[in-house]
Amino acid sequence: MAKVLIATEKPFAAPAVAGIKEIIEGAGFECALLEKYTEKAQLLTAVADVDAIIIRSDKIDAEVMDAAKQLKIVVRAGAGYDNVDLDAATARKIVVMNTPGQNANAVAELVLGLLVFTVRNFYNGKSGSELLGKKLGILAFGNVGRNVARIAKGFGMEVSAYDAYCPADVIEAAGVKAAKNQEELFKTCDIVSLHIPATAETKQSINKALVGSMKKAAILINTARKEVINEPELIELLAERTDLKYITDIKPDADEEFQKFEGRYFSTPKKMGAQTAEANTNAGLAAANQIVGFIKDGITKFQVNK
Ligand code: 3PG
Repeated sequence: MAKVLIATEKPFAAPAVAGIKEIIEGAGFECALLEKYTEKAQLLTAVADVDAIIIRSDKIDAEVMDAAKQLKIVVRAGAGYDNVDLDAATARKIVVMNTPGQNANAVAELVLGLLVFTVRNFYNGKSGSELLGKKLGILAFGNVGRNVARIAKGFGMEVSAYDAYCPADVIEAAGVKAAKNQEELFKTCDIVSLHIPATAETKQSINKALVGSMKKAAILINTARKEVINEPELIELLAERTDLKYITDIKPDADEEFQKFEGRYFSTPKKMGAQTAEANTNAGLAAANQIVGFIKDGITKFQVNK
C-alpha cells in the first residue's frame, strides 16, 4: 500500500487535512501527518517509508530525498517550488509537481487588504488616503497577478502589469495596461505589487535603482518571496526616501533593521498570503488528487522537473 505524508511546518486548516486524508485513504493508500515540526530530523524520520509527500514551503533537499528511500513524488500544495531541489529530484527520478492557481485568490485578497491597511496608516485613526484612481503596477501576470488585477479593478484602481514571460496582448486582453518593461512599471505606478517567483534571474532583482525610481509616496508590496528583494539596498533607500513604504507578508532576513522605519514598514509575523481554509483546501485536495493520479495512472500534469 502506497504511503503519503503530509509534511507541513505551517499546517493546513483542519478541513483541508480531513479532505486530503479522505482522498488518499479513499484511493486505498495510507496517509501520515507531520505538522508544526521544528527540527529537520523529524522530517527525515517521517519520510523514511513514504512514496509521496505533500508540502507547503517545507524544504525538500537532497538529504530529505536520500532519507526517503521509496519516494516517487513530491507535490508542493501551492505555486512556488523554490523550496524543492529540482535537480536532486530529477537525479533520483522523483517527480515534483505544484498546484498552480489553487491559492491565488487568497494571496490576491491579502494584497488588497494590506493596501487598505497601509493607505489608512495601519489603522491608527489618522486621516489616510484611498485606492480609487491610484495606479497599481503588477510585476508578473501569473495566477496571483491576474487575481490582484481583478480585485484592484473593483477598487477603481488603474492597473498595469509587466511579465517577462507573458506577451503584452495577453495582459491587455485581461483589461490591464501592459508596461513596456519593469522599469516603466516602477516609474509610472503609485503602488507596485510583486508576484515574481524566486529564480536565479529574479533573486535580489528588486533593488535601489528600481524602487528608487518610484513616485513620491509610493508603496512596494511583496507577497512573493523575500529572496527577490535586495534587502541592504532597500534599507538604504528607505533611509534616504522617507516618503516610501515597504509592505510584505514574508518577514525579511533584516526585519529588525526594517522595523526602524516606523509607519513605513509592515510585515505579517508569518507568511500568510495562502493561509485561508479555502486556499488550503483547494491546494491540498489538488495535491492529493495529483498524487493519486500519478501513482494509479502515471499522470504527470503539473510536473515541474521535466
Ligand atoms: C505559494 O507559493 O503557493 C505561496 O507562497 C504560499 O506558500 P505557503 O503554502 O507556504 O503558505
